[in-house]
Amino acid sequence: MFKITNVFKILNYIISMSENAEHKVTPWDVEGKVDYDKLITQFGVKYITDEQKTYLRELAESKGLAEHIFLKRGLYFAQMDLDKIIAAHKAGESIFLYTGRAPGGEMHTGHMISFMFTKFLQDLFDCNLYVQIPDDEKFLFKKDLTMGTISAMVNSDLEQLCAIGFNPDKTFIFRNSEFIAKMYPLVLETAKRITFSQARNTFGFENHSNVGQIFYPTLQIVPTFFEKGFCLIPCGIDQNPYFLLQRDFAQKLGFKKNCTILNKFLTALTGPEGKMSASNPNHAILLTDEPNVVKKKINKNAFSGGRATVEEHREFGGDCDVDVAFQWLYNLFEEDDSEIERIRIKYSNGDMLSGEIKKILISKVNEFLANHRDSVASAKADNLLEKYMKTGNLAKEMWSKSF
Ligand code: TRP
Repeated sequence: MFKITNVFKILNYIISMSENAEHKVTPWDVEGKVDYDKLITQFGVKYITDEQKTYLRELAESKGLAEHIFLKRGLYFAQMDLDKIIAAHKAGESIFLYTGRAPGGEMHTGHMISFMFTKFLQDLFDCNLYVQIPDDEKFLFKKDLTMGTISAMVNSDLEQLCAIGFNPDKTFIFRNSEFIAKMYPLVLETAKRITFSQARNTFGFENHSNVGQIFYPTLQIVPTFFEKGFCLIPCGIDQNPYFLLQRDFAQKLGFKKNCTILNKFLTALTGPEGKMSASNPNHAILLTDEPNVVKKKINKNAFSGGRATVEEHREFGGDCDVDVAFQWLYNLFEEDDSEIERIRIKYSNGDMLSGEIKKILISKVNEFLANHRDSVASAKADNLLEKYMKTGNLAKEMWSKSF
């Protein structure tokens, strides 16, 4: 039987998609200015509590790590059953992490959020991590993409993902089209538990949706069943519907309900409407952008909370709430609390000009990208890709396992 509570959550979700004119958030599309308070109710999730933050901070400190900037500044803001993960960790029960990325264009700074945070969580919990590359997903949902084009995208994504620093013996990266032979029995068990009307109500499928799209949620849910322990999924809040659905039947299959920890979307370079899109290169800083491109993009496109003229700016100050340079520094790049506060005060009282705050961002972004490029190079030299996908301990175990 379908649980009543979830019926309400899902009804809310549909209403949100059809009636909320301000924003549209589905696993495939984000448009408009996102109202996160509304999303929390619509997606049937809760805010991360102070107690949960404290637990993660103290755990980090016990491992000699700082509280993660994404947690400290609220980029990660919501969760589903994070308490269960914390309780399991306290009790020494088994936990594993799962996340993923559908290839669909070049990776940009926004795409790094879940992966950087996932690495942090892997360091905290010292646990297995599964990274799904659903090369099937974008193929099914984007009309013009061929599997050939997607394959090339997968290869460039994999290069970036290998640079994150996941534990090579506790991380398995797999692409659906390749691992499907192994997971198929589990895919079938899952598919049998999702009715067409559940899928339609959760994801808004219509009569013209192709049947591959309707089947796809099964594939994204299956990795939550790769182990019997507690599965924690760090991801964008738009992905939560899959994992809400999982909770209706996980226990029937002998697994635990999955838990999520959810991030907001990084504001696009061009302003607070929607998330960044790699298909419009002006909206985003790509991981492959050279320093002079970064400089040009930020100076030209970064939405400014500054005033029209220098005189006005000096008198009235800039608006940090909408200024993309400030938002990116706050959420991603400036870890030092007193430094970000100094910037906030100087920019909002007019002592710091728009060009000056952009300059700070440019140097931070370029420093980040230079480090990332170095990591890509050393990951290649160490042949990490092979380890994550085939020869590391977890990868070997997964390829020899039967489900
Ligand atoms: N659907 C995700 C995307 O569009 C990819 C993905 C697959 C994923 N499995 C996941 C994301 C698990 C988060 C968690 O990029």
